[in-house]
Parts: sequence; structure tokens; C-alpha cells
Amino acid sequence: MQSIMLRLRQNSLFNVYVNHAEWYPSPANLNYFWGFGSIALGVLVSQIVSGVLLAMHYNANINLAFNDVEHIMRDVVGGDGLRYLHANGASMFFISVYVHIGRGLFYGSYFYPRITLWYSGVILFFLMMAAGFLGYVLPWGQMSFWGATVITNFFSAIPVVGGAIVEWLWGGFSVDQPTLNRFFSLHFLIPFLLAGVAIIHIALLHEHGSNNPLGINENIKKIPFLTYYGIKDLFGIMLFIVFFVYFLVNCPNLLGHADNYIEALPLVTPAHIVPEWYFLPFYAILRTIPDKLGGVIAMVVAILILLSLPFLDTSKIRSGLFKPLHFINFILFICVTLCLGWLGQSVVEFPFSNLSEVVTILYFFYFISHFRLTTQYVK
Ligand code: HEM
Repeated sequence: MQSIMLRLRQNSLFNVYVNHAEWYPSPANLNYFWGFGSIALGVLVSQIVSGVLLAMHYNANINLAFNDVEHIMRDVVGGDGLRYLHANGASMFFISVYVHIGRGLFYGSYFYPRITLWYSGVILFFLMMAAGFLGYVLPWGQMSFWGATVITNFFSAIPVVGGAIVEWLWGGFSVDQPTLNRFFSLHFLIPFLLAGVAIIHIALLHEHGSNNPLGINENIKKIPFLTYYGIKDLFGIMLFIVFFVYFLVNCPNLLGHADNYIEALPLVTPAHIVPEWYFLPFYAILRTIPDKLGGVIAMVVAILILLSLPFLDTSKIRSGLFKPLHFINFILFICVTLCLGWLGQSVVEFPFSNLSEVVTILYFFYFISHFRLTTQYVK
């Protein structure tokens, strides 16, 4: 028995388990917000499994796709549950990652020495957005078709080559069969890329270890990940599953759009084109700028600005718990982002358009203000 244990210990996979799970040194004071990374990982696995199963009953063909989804909902055994699990799983993925990012912003997890870890997170965020957008096109409903048309058209704002890029993305002169083919292919691929980058993300985390609510350095008291954090994470995951299942059972269509239950009609534009809820704050920023190229730049910068935080934030204190101004600023930022989300689905006219100008400025203010607000604490 002892020699088996010894051989197992020499096995590199076993070592990975011991060093990066069982005995991984974790700060003793992590709260439940530190469980959202594991929750996001769990949702990613659920999305991959349910997605592969859905793909067995789906044809990426513009004449079949819409009816295939109905076939999954009505004829496939357990198909309705599977489809709702996957469609709402995307929302759950974004909820868990938004809380995860919020935790990082509040407790200053982006500070040195976790800058590359933070950057890998931003890559994950972009990949998630791509997966969400591409997946929404697959049911080939009205909102799928027109959402794809509007979003891909943004590339035409790029000077000189914009038009050619759009045609290249479409595989033709409009969103059509080649577009659906490639979107399906990429939507299948990206979750696996996400899984790969998530592994790199965790490897980068384990290089310096987790931050903690007090934001003090790595020499804080540490305990092995198992069993305490294993059970704590599992408890968080179980609570999240309860929320997810409650949502699935009671309101599986709440976050969908009624127009997506109409098959794509290339000659009939919906009265109001709205993306999924998790894109709304960025969509609001895009529409705030009257110029197309300016809007696209503002929207991309609204995400890329996350990369500047490790350098903009000059505070010597990491955790928001000890920075009252940062605390207020952070709460304001959450309200501003929610308000942008609401504006993203409102019509572009007075007073909404004027309000979104103010709220967009406030959004960027959160990031820029870090420099001024936090230098006070250095002194
Ligand atoms: C697919 C999406 C993601 C997954 C599956 C994921 C997974 C994880 C996991 C399992 C952890 C360790 C547990 C924890 O601290 O919560 C972690 C930590 C971390 N993640 Fe993510 N993550 C994702 C997206 C992001 C994004 C979008 C960002 C930021 C832009 C980010 C930034 C961080 C940071 C800074 C830490 C270290 C936190 C600390 O120690 O305080 N992650 N992530």
C-alpha cells in the first residue's frame, strides 16, 4: 500500500492535484465572493456539456435551424430542459463573472503582482462575449438575425477596410447561410478555448496565490484548500444551483426576447433591436456617441479600460474596505452600470439619450477617478 502511495506521489498529475488543490495554500480569511470563480467554472462545464448535447439535434441551416430549436423543445426527450439550461446558463455565466469582476474591482485583485492574471481575465471576458453573441444567432429568430446584422455591421465603421471585413465575416453580402455555418462552428469552438484560458487563468493565480478581503500581502496566515475551501466553494455552488434551478423552473423565458420566437425575416426589421441583457451597458455606451466609429471605439474602450486599472490605481492600499471614498465610488459604479443596462434597452430619444450621455461619462469617471481618489491614501 505504501509503495502504491509513493508511486502515486511521484506521478506528476497527482502532484498537480496535491499542490494545486488539496494542499494549495489559501488565505484563511476568504469570504463567499471568492467562490464565484469556482461557480463560473461550474457554469462553463455545464454550458459545454449541454451545448454538445444540443448540437446533436441542431442543423446550422437557415431553413432548418428555427424549426430544429422547436423540435428540441417539443420532441427531444428532456430537450426543453436542456435548451433552457443552455440558454439561461449563458446568463448565469455572466452573472457569476460580473460578480467575480466586481469582487476584483472592490478588493483590488488587479494590483501587482496579479496583473497578468487580471489581463487573462479580460481575455476570458472577450471570449465569453463572443460565445454569447454567436450563440444567440443560432436559433435563427428575428432578434438573432437582426442582432447579427447590426453587430457585424459595426466593423464597417473601420476606415477603408471596414466594408471588406464585414463581407468577410458574413461570407457574402448579408447575414445568410455561410454566416450561420461559421457562427455555429465558432460558437462550438470558443467554449473549449475558454476552458483552456481558464486553466491558464488559474495557473497564473497560483503563481502568487489569492488576494484576500483585507488586501494584505501573501504572508498572511494560509490554510490548505481542502477541505475547508473545497466545502465552502461547494456550498456556494449549491446555493447558486438553487437560484439557477428556481429561475429555470419559474421563468425560463424571462431573459429572452419575444421577437426571437418569430423565424428570421430578412425583409422585416423588428421595431426595436435589443441585444441580450449582459451586453446592454456596453450597447448603451455605443449608442450614446452619435458617430458610428466613435461609438464602436467608446464601447471597446469601456471594456479595455479594465486593463489600465493596475496602472491608474496608485493607491498603496488594496482593499476597498479601508478606502471610504473608493467604497462610495464603487457603489456608484454599480448603480451607473445598472442604469446603463436599463438605458441600453430604452429608445434613443429624449430623455434617455441625454441621460445616457451623463451616465457614460460617470462610467469612465469610475476608472479615471482612481488616480485622484486613491493618491490621498498614499500620503
Ligand atoms: C470564464 C470566466 C472566468 C473563470 C472561469 C474564472 C475563474 C477563476 C477562479 C476559479 C479563480 C480562483 C477563485 C477566485 O478567486 O474566485 C479566479 C480568480 C481570479 N480571477 Fe477569474 N475567472 C473568470 C473570469 C475573470 C475575469 C473576466 C476577470 C477580470 C477581468 C478575472 C479576474 C480574476 C482575478 C483578479 C482573480 C484573483 C482574485 C483574488 O485572488 O482576489 N477572472 N478566477
